[in-house]
Amino acid sequence: MNDRLKCLICGLEFDFQPNEFFCPTCEQPGLFNKTISGKAQIAQEAGITLEKFASFLPLKKVRAELSLGEGQTPLLALSSLEDGHRLLAKLESVNPTLSFKDRGSVLVVQKALELGWSAVGTVSTGNMASSTAAYAARAGLTCVLLVKKGTSTGALASSAIFNPLIIEVEGDYGQLFRESYELGKEFSIYFANSVDPVRLEGYKLTAFELCLQLGGVPDFVYVPVSSGGHFIGLYKGFLEMKQAGYIKKIPVMVGVQASGCAPIVQAFEEGHKTVSPIRPSGTIAHSISNADPPAGNLVLKLVRDHDGWLTAVTDEEMLQAQKELARSQGLFVQPESAATLAAFFKLRSRFKGMSVLILTGQGLKAVHQPALEGLNYHVSRAGELREFFRSIYRQK
Ligand SMILES: Cc1ncc(COP(=O)(O)O)c(C=O)c1O
Ligand SMILES: [Zn+2]
Repeated sequence: MNDRLKCLICGLEFDFQPNEFFCPTCEQPGLFNKTISGKAQIAQEAGITLEKFASFLPLKKVRAELSLGEGQTPLLALSSLEDGHRLLAKLESVNPTLSFKDRGSVLVVQKALELGWSAVGTVSTGNMASSTAAYAARAGLTCVLLVKKGTSTGALASSAIFNPLIIEVEGDYGQLFRESYELGKEFSIYFANSVDPVRLEGYKLTAFELCLQLGGVPDFVYVPVSSGGHFIGLYKGFLEMKQAGYIKKIPVMVGVQASGCAPIVQAFEEGHKTVSPIRPSGTIAHSISNADPPAGNLVLKLVRDHDGWLTAVTDEEMLQAQKELARSQGLFVQPESAATLAAFFKLRSRFKGMSVLILTGQGLKAVHQPALEGLNYHVSRAGELREFFRSIYRQK
């Protein structure tokens, strides 16, 4: 029997095929519609994340040997940043290729193999590209990456080492996203982009893990949002945990965008039901700068239906929060991930309770040229250091 998807906006159910998962009416991604029955049990004693939650996944059989050790990420207390209520961070930045994308990629390659596809691909400028390429390499699949023209050498290198076919493409990113599915159908490449429903099944496991680590649910979960895939996956995870009887309520989910590119926040604040593409003013947070988010309407619906929240933070607030996480906690994450702390600072007087920040990616993935600006960084010469130290220590 084919896997079935459901559109949460109009209720339509349809078959899943790689590259074909958008509701024909609502144009939003359908989600796997595996009814959680009494049979769906967490195998607490099982080894890796995928085995633990196997009965919640749309796979005939979990292939543990294709894992790179993703998941089971730490949940750390951020005690010195607390304000009367507990504040914790889920460290997705320690996944094998340093971002949450690995949770999705490990499932994508398994689905590709299960369905007999020999090539996977993705449209990405960063984290998803290296993640997909790494997992494809381990699974012995061909990998095709369509990257935006101008992608930095560093970002390309972290993918290129896995030997995928990389094509730099000029032009509109939204158009490239849609075009990839047409290419995928024609050339039998499973383009598992940001809102692919199989990916989202991997992201939902972060919510499962969080419930187990806490023995319950936090009051608030802060998540950076771009295409909306990760946020929707986490929502699905909490809703399934509730349906399966593991938790009684779901947290207030707080989606965070960069104010220089916040189409979903804009629609939310203006009370719209749908998201319109925007002309962004620009942000340093490239990984969360989708001006035409393919799952924006679904994000809005989930937030409305489940009393979630959406907010935007400025580049300055993100960079300040990034420094704060590093200096007070020893955590180096991307500005995109630090956006969650910036949003927490903005909302904490209203949203009182236990909060969890999802720190989505490692800081090394987004080192910008002026990274040393304003930091305690100096230049000296061998043989002249004594003078240098004297000048510093005398100042104190
Ligand atoms: C570090 C980081 N955080 C957040 C996001 C946003 O995820 P999504 O596009 O699923 O909303 C991305 C996406 O690339 C990312 O790389
Ligand atoms: Zn629909």
